[in-house]
Amino acid sequence: MKALILVGGFGTRLRPLTLTMPKPLVDFGNKPMILHQIMALKAAGVTEVVLAINHQQPEVMLNFVKEYEKKLEIKITFSQETEPLGTAGPLALARDKLVDESGQPFFVLNSDVICEYPLLEMIEFHKTNCAEASIMVTKVDDPSKYGVVVTEEGTARVESFVEKPEHFVGNKINAGIYLLNPSVLDRIELRRTSIEKEIFPKIASEKKLYAMVLPGFWMDIGQPKDYITGQRMYLNSLREKASQELATGNNIIGNVLVDKSAVIGDGCLIGPDVVIGSGCVIDSGVRLFGCTVMRSVWIKEHACISNSIVGWDSTVGKWARVVNITVLGKYVNVADAEVYNSGVVIEEQGL
Ligand code: GDD
Ligand code: MG
Repeated sequence: MKALILVGGFGTRLRPLTLTMPKPLVDFGNKPMILHQIMALKAAGVTEVVLAINHQQPEVMLNFVKEYEKKLEIKITFSQETEPLGTAGPLALARDKLVDESGQPFFVLNSDVICEYPLLEMIEFHKTNCAEASIMVTKVDDPSKYGVVVTEEGTARVESFVEKPEHFVGNKINAGIYLLNPSVLDRIELRRTSIEKEIFPKIASEKKLYAMVLPGFWMDIGQPKDYITGQRMYLNSLREKASQELATGNNIIGNVLVDKSAVIGDGCLIGPDVVIGSGCVIDSGVRLFGCTVMRSVWIKEHACISNSIVGWDSTVGKWARVVNITVLGKYVNVADAEVYNSGVVIEEQGL
């Protein structure tokens, strides 16, 4: 089976992290975001993943691909646009890579969603319903920033699909995970096209679009607040599914994931809902909760970080406080006793 991951967005809502790293490679739970998806696809029997990219520097992605093709024994190829083709155009561009003589359906994933990826169940669902296209859906409190899916009462058949509705039409939303028959490609022209606005409504009107309700948690982690919420959900799910991966100890509260190369000093209080990346040094007396500390960060004595993201190779000074949805980019230096209360911080140039 084949799969395509849409990785071409600009990631503007996750700046400054995406100023130095393409969004799909930003770490989440100590792994690049798309690695969660590639691993799930592999587990579901996918043998080739196409990464649909547009403006990204292929070199950064290329190094990632080289490393993980070997590690995961899966073929990963690129399909690069010369101009952004939206969420459907890239499928037309990659047509030859997605279709083979087997005529099997293929997966399409948005690169910034996180969940438990029940992809084998999705294959069953797709077959049972004889669907042309299946999409996963989940319930959210504020559906206005997503694609809303309305199903026929008592069935899984999609009646209508409304992208970013202005008025309330329902609270079941498109989770960004699709299984499509090759015939869907005949509906897509090679130009900038939105699968949500132009293709799904058409398939729904022909009664060939089906929605599977996603079990477990789901989050679009493409903005800082949602990234932090998604991390809490992800750690909760790790607690249920693989609790041995979580840290334990007197200084740990709740769900905390610590890379084994990180060094944590005495008298720290860490958790709940914290991820600490490889090569980090956390000095004594530090307080961390609801936060991500990416690779090679140094947090000095008695600093406190909460509900925030600390980008790679940054340093946080003694007694400093980084709180309330603050995102530090790569190589940021927070001075001793400095306070950041929400907002983004980038590296000072020319020092
Ligand atoms: N290759 C390529 N080219 N990829 C693109 C392009 C493009 O021109 N534009 C967007 N993408 C990728 C993004 O990288 C992302 O993985 C995916 O397509 C969706 O784009 P977003 O910009 O993240 O869309 P969204 O979050 O506003 O809405 C989408 O996701 C929601 C779920 O998170 C829609 O699919 C909604 O219907 C859905 O509910
Ligand atoms: Mg998104």
